[in-house]
Amino acid sequence: MLRSDAVKNDSLYEYYCKVEDDYEKKWEKKDFYSFISNQDNIFILSHPKPLGYLKARVARDEIEIISIIIDKKFRKVGIGKSLLNKLLDIALKKKINNIFLEVSVENQIAISLYKKFNFIKVGKRKNYYFQNGRYIDADIMRLTLF
Ligand SMILES: CC(C)(COP(=O)(O)OP(=O)(O)OC[C@H]1O[C@@H](n2cnc3c(N)ncnc32)[C@H](O)[C@@H]1OP(=O)(O)O)[C@@H](O)C(=O)NCCC(=O)NCCS
Repeated sequence: MLRSDAVKNDSLYEYYCKVEDDYEKKWEKKDFYSFISNQDNIFILSHPKPLGYLKARVARDEIEIISIIIDKKFRKVGIGKSLLNKLLDIALKKKINNIFLEVSVENQIAISLYKKFNFIKVGKRKNYYFQNGRYIDADIMRLTLF
């Protein structure tokens, strides 16, 4: 788990919940703390202001990005890029070979962000998401570091 040193552990859940978005249902407090207490998981909160976060998990020499969420009032000002840069620092230190993620084929904004970091599409999961009463495919994307 990684967090901004400026934030006390007790306040972390509060900050996480304050990030306003319509994308992800916030986890229950116990699930959140169970996630961040596992050393194989990564939680990066933007700082100095908590306006976005990234969740990921490490498995051997790979990282899977679970989600990256920026407060809807503070998008398109570079916070997503800064969180991904922070994840890259961590990945390089840990000598991670590949970073993977799944993204809805309809989420062109996120796909554009990932492409800026040289993620490439390596596969597809059919009917991976269920949104507004219909199934949507996901692209699997990979960034190879070593
Ligand atoms: C996807 C998301 C994380 C991007 O975060 P962000 O802080 O707004 O992104 P940044 O400001 O760092 O922009 C990075 C790149 O993303 C792309 N991007 C961001 N907003 C965009 C927009 N409105 N239209 C098109 N491209 C956009 C661009 O490629 C941009 O690079 P540029 O500034 O050089 O043009 C944010 O929009 C978000 O939280 N969306 C909802 C949740 C989500 O879809 N998460 C991803 C799947 S888990």
